[in-house]
Amino acid sequence: MTSLKIALNSIKVAAFISLLTFGFGAPVLAEDLTDSATCFDCHDDTDRDPPSDPNRPQVHKPEGGFFVESHADFDCIDCHTYITDLEHDETAPDMEVDCLECHDEVPTKE
Ligand code: HEC
Ligand code: HEC
Ligand code: HEC
Repeated sequence: MTSLKIALNSIKVAAFISLLTFGFGAPVLAEDLTDSATCFDCHDDTDRDPPSDPNRPQVHKPEGGFFVESHADFDCIDCHTYITDLEHDETAPDMEVDCLECHDEVPTKE
C-alpha cells in the first residue's frame, strides 16, 4: 500500500516537472536565449550600473564589454541563470548573479 502511494506520488512529480519543462517553457524557449544578440535587442551593452555590493568587483564595464577577458567567453545566461524566458522584465530586476556558479569563493576587490 505504502509503496503504491510512493509510486503514485513520483508519477505526479514527474508529470509536474514535464509540465514545467514542456508545458509552460516551450513557447518562449523557441527564442535562442544563448545568443547574446537576442539580449542586445533590448539591452544596450552600455550604461552598466556598478554592483550593489561595493566590495565586489564590477563585471560589466560601464561603457560596454567586460573587465575580465574570460567573462566574455560566456553566454549572457551562463551568469544570468535566472533569465529563462523573454518575459522576465517583471522578475529579473534586482536578481543577482551568483559568482559561486563558477568561482570557489566570491571574488573581492584587491
Ligand atoms: C524583449 C526585450 C528583452 C529581451 C530580448 C531581453 N530582455 Fe532583459 N529585460 C527586459 C526588460 C524590459 C527588463 C526590465 C527593465 C530593466 O531593468 O532593464 C529586463 C531586465 C533584465 C535584467 C535585470 C536588470 C536589472 O535592472 O537588474 C537582466 C539581468 C536581463 N534583463 C538580462 C537579459 C538577458 C541575459 C537577455 C538575453 C537572454 C535579455 N535580458 C533579453 C527586456 C528584455
Ligand atoms: C561573467 C558573468 C556575466 C556575464 C557573462 C554577463 N553578465 Fe550581465 N551582469 C553580471 C553581473 C555580476 C551584474 C551586476 C553588475 C556588475 O557587476 O557589472 C550584471 C548586470 C547586468 C544587467 C543589469 C545592470 C545594468 O546596469 O544594466 C544587465 C541588463 C546585464 N547584466 C545583461 C547582460 C547581457 C545582455 C549579457 C550578455 C552579453 C551579460 N549580462 C553577460 C554578470 C554577467
Ligand atoms: C559562468 C562562469 C562565471 C561566473 C558566473 C563568474 N565568473 Fe568570474 N571568472 C570566470 C572565469 C572562467 C574566469 C577566469 C579563470 C579564473 O581565473 O578563475 C573568471 C575570472 C574572474 C576574475 C579575475 C580574477 C580571478 O579570480 O581569476 C574576477 C575578478 C571575477 N572573475 C569576478 C567575478 C565576479 C565578481 C562574479 C560574480 C558577480 C563572477 N566573476 C562570476 C567565470 C565566471
